[in-house]
Amino acid sequence: MCGIMGYVGPQQAAPILLDGLTRLEYRGYDSAGIAVAGGGIEIRKAEGKIERLAALIDSEPIAGNAGIGHTRWATHGPPSDRNAHPHADPTGDFVVVHNGIIENFYALREELQASGASFASDTDTEVLAHLVASEYDGDLVAAVRKAVARARGAYALVVMAKAEPGTIVAVRKISPLVVGLGDGENYLASDIPAVLHRTRDFLIVEDDELVVIDADGASIETISGDPVQREVFHVSWDAEQAEKAGFEHFMLKEIHEQPSVVSETIAGRLEDDRVVLEDAAFDDDFARGIGTLWITACGTAYHAGLVGAEVFRRTLRIPTRVEYAHEMRYGDPLVAPGDLAVAISQSGETADTLAAARLAGELGARVLALTNVVGSTLSRDADDIVYTRAGPEISVASTKAYLAMLIGQYLLALRLGRARGVLDEEVARRVTAGLRRLPEMVEEVLRSEKDVMAAAESMVDADDVYFIGRGLDYAVAMEGSLKLKEISYLHSEAMPAGELKHGTLALVTEGVPVIVVITQRDVYDKTLSAVQEVKARGARVIAVAYDTDAEIGKFADVVLRIPEGEDLLAPVTAVVPLQLLAYHVARLRGHDIDQPRNLAKSVTVE
Ligand code: G6P
Repeated sequence: MCGIMGYVGPQQAAPILLDGLTRLEYRGYDSAGIAVAGGGIEIRKAEGKIERLAALIDSEPIAGNAGIGHTRWATHGPPSDRNAHPHADPTGDFVVVHNGIIENFYALREELQASGASFASDTDTEVLAHLVASEYDGDLVAAVRKAVARARGAYALVVMAKAEPGTIVAVRKISPLVVGLGDGENYLASDIPAVLHRTRDFLIVEDDELVVIDADGASIETISGDPVQREVFHVSWDAEQAEKAGFEHFMLKEIHEQPSVVSETIAGRLEDDRVVLEDAAFDDDFARGIGTLWITACGTAYHAGLVGAEVFRRTLRIPTRVEYAHEMRYGDPLVAPGDLAVAISQSGETADTLAAARLAGELGARVLALTNVVGSTLSRDADDIVYTRAGPEISVASTKAYLAMLIGQYLLALRLGRARGVLDEEVARRVTAGLRRLPEMVEEVLRSEKDVMAAAESMVDADDVYFIGRGLDYAVAMEGSLKLKEISYLHSEAMPAGELKHGTLALVTEGVPVIVVITQRDVYDKTLSAVQEVKARGARVIAVAYDTDAEIGKFADVVLRIPEGEDLLAPVTAVVPLQLLAYHVARLRGHDIDQPRNLAKSVTVE
């Protein structure tokens, strides 16, 4: 989950690398560094955010037209100057940056140490620099190939040698890597947004491929040396989308983008009584024969899956399982041929989600990727894809991607339901109409941000917060709680409202905030009973409820209103006040909202 960059061309490499790393900072940000080939190869690196590296380069400039860079999220060795990338071999003639994990690095390091090598860092990466150096015999590509043949794991590796200063060699094993094609200059990056303002033409490097770039071009071959012809991938995203657009934080900007994200996710996909999912190739026969529908994901994507599981089960009346990807991959799941596995991932690069999806595929399921990143590994692994079209999401705490994942699942439920002939026509019509109304409804919720700010002020000094709800409201409560803890660092837990009295109620005392999501009419009274239970223990109740709900105001201290609509679609609007609540509590507590401590946007290691 580190960010990597490379540049070769006529310009000074250092500023381009720094700029790219800044745009990749969401992939990891505990230290950063660059190496530039000029006369020889020089390295600058520093613990902390990229500003520290930029300041170091200001005071000790580094000149040259080719270079590699890295922004790190530690896996081996704590964040420090010495563990920051790039890493060099002892002569300093070979430098590497790397994203991922070398699983056998202890063994490799011991072997190298036994033959006299000494190491300057605690990282797994450094062994790669040593291996490339020891394999070098005048041909960097051959040396890299031999070095990676000895390494096990999932990684993207980028290498430069003093003896071949205008060339960069990189290898991809699972961790993402792209080539940006310029005019007389070329780039390498772990993510397209890093260089999207410089070029729109990319080559996507696949697993087990090696790429060589210089100023004139890029060539890809398999790791075993067979040439590869890769078509240029032209990206039509707007680079402006990745800027903050005047908001104080990316998270707030992304929350406010949600009405247009919902429109975008639906666009062109709801045609009268048909749902068009352009990259989902399954046919009606397959849809009719689905045995179990599996959903697998991590983090916020998993919470989107909790909503989806409920929606699929209710509308399709088939067994539905939602599994954390890291549990599913080792949980010997009973996936069978004819099942559908929906793997949900904003990035499409989360290692556990990729592995769970692959396992489901191996066990015979058809795999559908619900992802935000076009060309991501998940999208390429899957049989079918539903792109969420949320645009680049920079804030580590995911908001707009979550909403788009919900929409993607509603569309899929409609598509499958129609094919299976199980969807009540009246329900289908109402859901379709409801989906079309959602952008305006989300906009309406955003207009009440001031109410949420007041609620945030009332709980900023809390020690513990509890979120409750039933059914779909419980799924939303889970996401609301995760948002709050991710960025405010308040301890918070979510549970089904009916579970409260089986333990957690013991923790509800005078003034403890309890946030209740109460939209689902079929269980409304039951949830209201739980509200009364916590109220009787002195809780401070903040409710998320429909604007037509006259009852809840009698029990809750604060009611955050959302427009009344279809209960099935309520998660889309109900989560928005909770996103804003988390944001404003974190802001009042003075936290680094877009880059919360210890967390990374994309977790591409196990
Ligand atoms: C990390 C992020 C979360 C995200 C999760 C899954 O933990 O911090 O915000 O929900 O990964 O990411 P994915 O890209 O697979 O949706």
